[in-house]
Amino acid sequence: MTKVLFVCLGNICRSPTAEGVFRNLVRRQNLGDAIGTDSAGTSGWHIGAPPDPRSCAEAQRRGIRIDDLRSRKVEVADFSRFDYVIAMDEANRADLEDLCPTPLRGRIHLFTEFAPEGTGSGVPDPYYGGTDGFARVFDLITECAEGLLARIVAERRESNAR
Ligand code: 4NP
Repeated sequence: MTKVLFVCLGNICRSPTAEGVFRNLVRRQNLGDAIGTDSAGTSGWHIGAPPDPRSCAEAQRRGIRIDDLRSRKVEVADFSRFDYVIAMDEANRADLEDLCPTPLRGRIHLFTEFAPEGTGSGVPDPYYGGTDGFARVFDLITECAEGLLARIVAERRESNAR
């Protein structure tokens, strides 16, 4: 199984949205037995909390449920458990690199690397903004999730062919 962990600061806005969007794509492609998902925060500020109501509302507006998810803090063991550790922004990536054992650092990626343009500077934090920020973040997350899934499917196909 290929395992993917989405990471942001609080694990209540961006990374649970990313997990929800990505797992929905995985299910739609009947890859639920092949690709596993989770999310976590670099802070422990919201441990045990469900996603922010604004993230839940935006997801539900797009036909996706994320209210079953609960916040947890990222831990060192995650770098050996997950094949892909996906940072939402540059600050999250820097924090993950500090925590990650050096040989496993290649597992850390910036989510926006998988957007169609490929060089985005991260998913902006919508927490302190208005609801339109949540809608924009949802659109960006969808683009990145589609790109990431395409990359993983291609990689699995290559490794199966070997
Ligand atoms: P997230 O957003 O990292 O996308 O979950 C935030 C959630 C909470 C806080 C900051 C960002 N906070 O300061 O509590």
